Amino acid sequence: MYSSSIGRGPTAPKKVTAPDVRARKGGPALAMVTAYDFTMARLVDEAGVDLILVGDSLGMVVQGLANTLPVTLDEIAYHARAVARAATRAHVVGDMPFMSYQVSSTQAVESAGKLVKDGACESVKLEGGEDFAEHVWRIVRAGVPVMGHVGLMPQSVHALGGFKVQGRGDDAEAKVLADAKALEEAGAYAIVLEAIPPDLAARVTASVGVPTIGIGAGPRCDGQVLVCTDLLGMGRGHSPKFAKAYAQLGDAIVAATRRYVDEVQSGAFPAEEHSYKPNRADESGPRVSEQEREPARVVSLRH
Ligand code: KIV
Repeated sequence: MYSSSIGRGPTAPKKVTAPDVRARKGGPALAMVTAYDFTMARLVDEAGVDLILVGDSLGMVVQGLANTLPVTLDEIAYHARAVARAATRAHVVGDMPFMSYQVSSTQAVESAGKLVKDGACESVKLEGGEDFAEHVWRIVRAGVPVMGHVGLMPQSVHALGGFKVQGRGDDAEAKVLADAKALEEAGAYAIVLEAIPPDLAARVTASVGVPTIGIGAGPRCDGQVLVCTDLLGMGRGHSPKFAKAYAQLGDAIVAATRRYVDEVQSGAFPAEEHSYKPNRADESGPRVSEQEREPARVVSLRH
């Protein structure tokens, strides 16, 4: 134990840790949301979310890609650094992108370490159950808490034939249960359940001793996660059935920006209150229209 000269200040809220999350099994439900930048992270942290996930969904949400596969470890680390600066209370989870952990458990430990060292993440998340349990075990032994992710695993979109509900039918149900069990045994502190029937999610939740965090998995999980732009109604295309929008910020942004465009064009913005004190009052009035303007002069920007 060391004392640190970098204080968080006596009034800083207590950070949510991986053990805190683990201890919430069956307790007050956990609220997790994604964020990819400082501004959004500061707002959702202020709103009291327990965890902020720097998801590889950033490929689709921030980069406009069709799926998450091209996202790199450096990109997750870059966005996570910005998020971590804003998260005064929420626990910051960094997503391990496609092919940053699948190759070997050594690669998995190195990638997790990079998200902690370069991305300031407090834990990592990876997709996969039984097949990657050994990788989870190694990362946890290296001192990095791991959140698992089973059910619909978007990094397997090609193998699954699309983004489809998982866990339908006896074999598929058994697979999701076995995957979740394997993650718990490997030391995962929580498990995301994505796009599975609610009754299966309830069975998984009852059969593991760590919290489950659902997305499209019904109400009987230990917590829920949403992508921030879904939660805030910022998407313009199709949004999944489970993505409840708590605001319509997309429409609000378009309407506000339209007003700005109109006011710039009409000369209503900037008004006097948005301008600095003039040097000479007679030259500080409203914008001069094209017709009134003097013929263009060549002005050197250096003087
Ligand atoms: O990348 C992501 O945002 C996720 C959540 C949907 C759980 O994995």
